[in-house]
Order: sequence, then C-alpha cells, then structure tokens
Amino acid sequence: MAKYQHHDAAWRRAKDEGLRSRAALKLREIDGKFRVFRRGGRVLDLGCWPGGWLQVAAAAVGGRGRVVGVDLLAVDKLEIANVVTLVGDLADEAVCRELLEELGGTADLVLSDMSPSLSGVRDADRARHERLVELAIAVAGRTLSGGGVLVVKLFADIPQEITAGLRADFDKVSRFKPPTTRKGSREIYLVARGYRKQREAPPPGAGTVADERGDTKVQ
Ligand SMILES: C[S@@+](CC[C@H](N)C(=O)[O-])C[C@H]1O[C@@H](n2cnc3c(N)ncnc32)[C@H](O)[C@@H]1O
Repeated sequence: MAKYQHHDAAWRRAKDEGLRSRAALKLREIDGKFRVFRRGGRVLDLGCWPGGWLQVAAAAVGGRGRVVGVDLLAVDKLEIANVVTLVGDLADEAVCRELLEELGGTADLVLSDMSPSLSGVRDADRARHERLVELAIAVAGRTLSGGGVLVVKLFADIPQEITAGLRADFDKVSRFKPPTTRKGSREIYLVARGYRKQREAPPPGAGTVADERGDTKVQ
C-alpha cells in the first residue's frame, strides 16, 4: 500500500513559493477555473489559519482590496497591509458582526476552508464538518453583496439538504475538485456565484450612505 506522504510535491511547491499552506494552491486552482476574485474586492476567509488562503486572496484583490480572516487559532502576522485577522469561533454571533465591521461593508467573496479538529470517530467528525458548512452558508447569507460568490469546502457525499438552499440563493452552483487535492480525499469545493441578495426592509426613517468604495448601505 502506498505510504501517506504529508510532504508531497505540492507541499514543497507551496513552501518554495513562501505560501503558508498547501491548500493555497487549491485556492489558486479554484480561481483559475471560476475567476472568483476581482481587483479591489472585499473577501472574508472563514477558517484562515495558518494563512495560505489569505496570501492568495490578498495578492488577487491587490492593495485597494481588503481581506478579513477568522480562525479559532491566531494567525502569525502576515505583514500584508490589506489583510486583517481575528481570533474567534465563527459560531459566535459577535465574531460575525466584527468581521463585517473590519471588512467595511458587505463581501464580494466569502471563502470557507473550515475543518473541525478530528476526533477519529467518523460519524462525529462528519457531523462537525457539516455543521461548519451550514455555518459558512449562514454567514455568507448575512455578509455577501448582491452578485457575490461563496466558495465552501465540503465532503462530496454531504447530505443534499445542507446545500440545497444555495441553488435558490445563487445564479450558479458548481462542484470542483482542485487538481492538487490529495489522492483519495473526499473533499471538494462548492463554488456558488451570483448571490441573489434578499433586500431587507430598512428600519423606518433609515437613510442610506455611501461607503468608501461608493457602494450604498443602509444606515
Ligand atoms: C484547513 S484549515 C484552513 C487552511 C487555510 N485555508 C490556509 O490555506 O491556510 C481549517 C481551519 O478551520 C478552522 N476552524 C474550524 N472551526 C472553526 C470555527 N468554528 N470558527 C473559526 N475557525 C474554525 C480551524 O481552526 C482550522 O485552522
């Protein structure tokens, strides 16, 4: 049986490029196929430690863009001006609010590469991962701009009902397995494009203001 190689060619390539994770190559492959980034865009990175996706996102949106990441673990400082990271549990309502404040408005792109720490008990681990997918979808629903994009990691055989709502909420939903995915892995990414934002009725008397990018938001 082939020995499981933690440090494979992709890992070495990522390391040679100064990327903090092998997973960073997968995000590049996702962008190569779906063009999920745009220059100057606002990006949320859910489950961002150790920071490989942050590096790719920051380079893709450029200096006029903004990338805000959150993780249970503290990310070592990246020294990239347009990146901010928060430490917290995304299930915590206050963390979600803080993410939006740091982003300075709604997001053009929400990324979730979140994984639970594994217990080794298959059913329990699956249930935890599914909960994180639900969480990412819920956060995307609250934070994405109209027309925005969600990229979320999940297991290929995730129960359909967990992701079914995405087909109604987005114009197009695609499944993608980046070529760099480890052989035998059941992980894939869902790429949901064209978020159909439900307009919330503004509270009586509320006006609208333009943020620094010129988008309007309810005050
Ligand atoms: C595979 S790693 C992400 C790797 C990252 N995309 C990169 O390229 O550097 C998954 C991360 O999800 C985080 N995570 C899991 N549950 C979380 C939660 N409830 N809130 C925030 N982060 C969470 C874990 O702490 C872990 O660091």
